[in-house]
Amino acid sequence: MSFRATVLSLYPEMFPGPLDLSLAGKAREAGLWSLEAVQIRDFATSKHRNVDDTPAGGGAGMVMRADVLARALDHVAGPQDARPKLLMSPRGRPLDQGRVRQLATGPGAVILCGRFEGVDQRLIEARALEEVSIGDYVLSGGEPAALVLLDAVIRLLPGVMGNEQSGEEESFEGGLLEHPQYTRPQLFEERPIPEVLLSGNHAKIAAWRRAEAERLTRERRPDLWAAYRGDKPV
Ligand code: ADE
Repeated sequence: MSFRATVLSLYPEMFPGPLDLSLAGKAREAGLWSLEAVQIRDFATSKHRNVDDTPAGGGAGMVMRADVLARALDHVAGPQDARPKLLMSPRGRPLDQGRVRQLATGPGAVILCGRFEGVDQRLIEARALEEVSIGDYVLSGGEPAALVLLDAVIRLLPGVMGNEQSGEEESFEGGLLEHPQYTRPQLFEERPIPEVLLSGNHAKIAAWRRAEAERLTRERRPDLWAAYRGDKPV
């Protein structure tokens, strides 16, 4: 069974966008995943097909209407649909490789892209939406966040990545950032490739890579480093 993504957006033309190129594009052609991009406005019923309104209590901006979004969600995902319903939002739980891995082993995802100041809270509760953030910054809408999430998931689907091992060794898979990589030429602007990598000694190379991964993680990501050390006391 292939991974089925349904995206609800006011800008469905943004999809598949970059996901039609490269690895993800080939995988879609091969039927390893599918994408349906749905226009939320098609579910508006008012004369002017409004999807948003002013915030209760006053204040700036507009809020996406619960009734319109509920109709859109119910249309694309019936009660038997086992896919998680995600709402891309800077208020969500930060996306990490663990959640990406879980999603990649599931049947797919229904992804609602927020715009304006947000989404009526009653919709989030009534449809049990899982709010997902891709980082502590604010995008103009959830669409680029949905593209990021899908990209991360698709590359993990069985059969998508050519070299399965390259997935196991990359950043986050062992709780560490990935070690630095080098390739030809041996000398670039007077900078040589680290000697050990040319030694042919696989045990020494593995030890060097681990030490570098640990150093980078310690220097750049104290949060990941603390979690890693918590898992494996030194
Ligand atoms: N929408 C706006 N900003 C976002 C973010 N950081 N993550 C997910 N969705 C968003």
